[in-house]
This record gives sequence, structure tokens and C-alpha cells, in this order.
Amino acid sequence: MVLLKVGNVEFSYGSFKALKGVTFEAREGEVVSVVGPNGSGKTTLLKTLDGIFKPLSGSVYVDGKSLGSMGRKEIAKLFGYVPQRLEHLYPFTVFDFVLSGRKPYIAFMPGGKDHRKVFEVLKLVNLEEKAFKKITELSGGELQRALIARALVVEPRILLLDEPTASLDLYYQLEVAELIKQLARDRRLVVVMALHDLSLAYRYSDKVVVMKDGKVYAMGSPEEALTEEVIYAVYGVRVRILKDEKAVVVAFNQR
Ligand SMILES: Nc1ncnc2c1ncn2[C@@H]1O[C@H](COP(=O)(O)OP(=O)(O)O)[C@@H](O)[C@H]1O
Ligand SMILES: [Mg+2]
Repeated sequence: MVLLKVGNVEFSYGSFKALKGVTFEAREGEVVSVVGPNGSGKTTLLKTLDGIFKPLSGSVYVDGKSLGSMGRKEIAKLFGYVPQRLEHLYPFTVFDFVLSGRKPYIAFMPGGKDHRKVFEVLKLVNLEEKAFKKITELSGGELQRALIARALVVEPRILLLDEPTASLDLYYQLEVAELIKQLARDRRLVVVMALHDLSLAYRYSDKVVVMKDGKVYAMGSPEEALTEEVIYAVYGVRVRILKDEKAVVVAFNQR
């Protein structure tokens, strides 16, 4: 079933058009990777999907319903957002940090159900043992999992992640990518993530959206969207696609 539909979305910062006619859709359980050079509009797209930014024209639909016709709380319960980085890291415990994600459900004070949900998602991301550790004392991989837990505690139908593997070493990159894939499958979520690493996009996506200058330059399965031609046109870099290894490697000879 198509859960997320992005129809001809345009967005501007003042007079600068950052998104131009962006259109794609995603089915339940699908992982969609958004790739493209710096400044191509990936972060802007993610922020437009969950209504942080209002599109100038076009619409985002969840289950056929336009975000424009929904209230702020209704939208907040549909999307979990994992930002690229936290601007300020305060020494909250992991538990309190994840609990803060329950905000759309909490009228006055968090209750037993909210606490149970926090433990449920901490277990899911394998962070239960760190529940009462401070987030300032976590490793990069653990902090990334705490951010994902905070997004999941919303019980979203769509999980948005902005370069979730960017600050991680190789081991944690694979661990987080596996976790994201498994969450999409098991919870029937739509996952939309901005990614820098084209090999991870090739390996872990059901669909890849390639952005260039605020437009969708190519879209489709990893094999369809991530071709040597497309990557050269968008990044200006010659690569080789190793189909068997599911890897994108920079070509030795750039001519
Ligand atoms: N707050 C802002 N005000 C004005 N321009 C912005 C702002 N944020 C991003 N931009 C511009 O919009 C374009 C897309 O940015 P962004 O979505 O952050 O790209 P990406 O995430 O792909 O690197 C860039 O040209 C960037 O300079
Ligand atoms: Mg970005």
C-alpha cells in the first residue's frame, strides 16, 4: 500500500527555490534513500515531508490525506525525525531524552504508558542497559540509536533520518543501516533517509531518489537510479558500480 506520496512539492527560502517539483511515493515497509551533493535539497526535503516547512505549492499525502488538512499534533504522531546532529547536547539520561519524544501524546505529565513505550523502543535499538546513562556519555553509535529511539517512541508510520550514518565508523554504519532496514520491515514503516554513502544507499534501499539543484534527477530501484552516468552527471565524479558487491567505488581514472 502506498503510504507516503509527495506531489510536485516546491519550497523556497525567501527568493531561493530549494525544491522544484519534487514527486515520489513510498509503500509501507520501504526504505527510500535520498542522495545528492551538498546543497541539493535533501535536508530541506526531509523538513518539508513532516510539515516543519510548508510547501509553497504541491502537497505531501499520508494514506491519501494531505498534511495541509491536518493539525500539528496529528502530523507529529505520523512522523519520527532523526536530525543530522543535535545543536546542543544536554546531560539528560537516555530515558528522559527518549521520553521527550512522547510530547505529542502527553497532555500534562508522562504516565505509565509513556514509560513503557520508552523501554519498548530502547529494547528495540538495543540500548536498555544504557537507559540511565547520560546521553553526553554515549558513543557515537549509541547516541545515534538513542536519536532513533526518540523518533520511534512517537509510534510513527514514517521515519525520516538525515544522514544517520555520517558520523559513525564502519562498524556502526552497518549496524545502524541494518537496524533501519529491519525497522522498516518489521513495523511496516516508510523510511526516508538522506545518505552520503552511495554504497549504503545501493545496498539498503528499496528506492533511491537522486537530487540535483532541488530537483529529482533520477529515481527508481538502486540499480535503476544509481548508474555510473547518473552519478557523474550529479556529482561530477566517475565511479564504478560493482553489482555483485553492491558497492559504488570512485574510479581510479577520472577521465
Ligand atoms: N535556512 C536557509 N536559508 C536559506 N537557504 C538555505 C537554508 N537552508 C538551506 N538553504 C539552501 O538550500 C539549498 C538546499 O540545502 P539543504 O536542503 O540543506 O541541502 P542538503 O541537505 O542536500 O545539503 C542549499 O543551496 C542551501 O544553501
Ligand atoms: Mg543536509
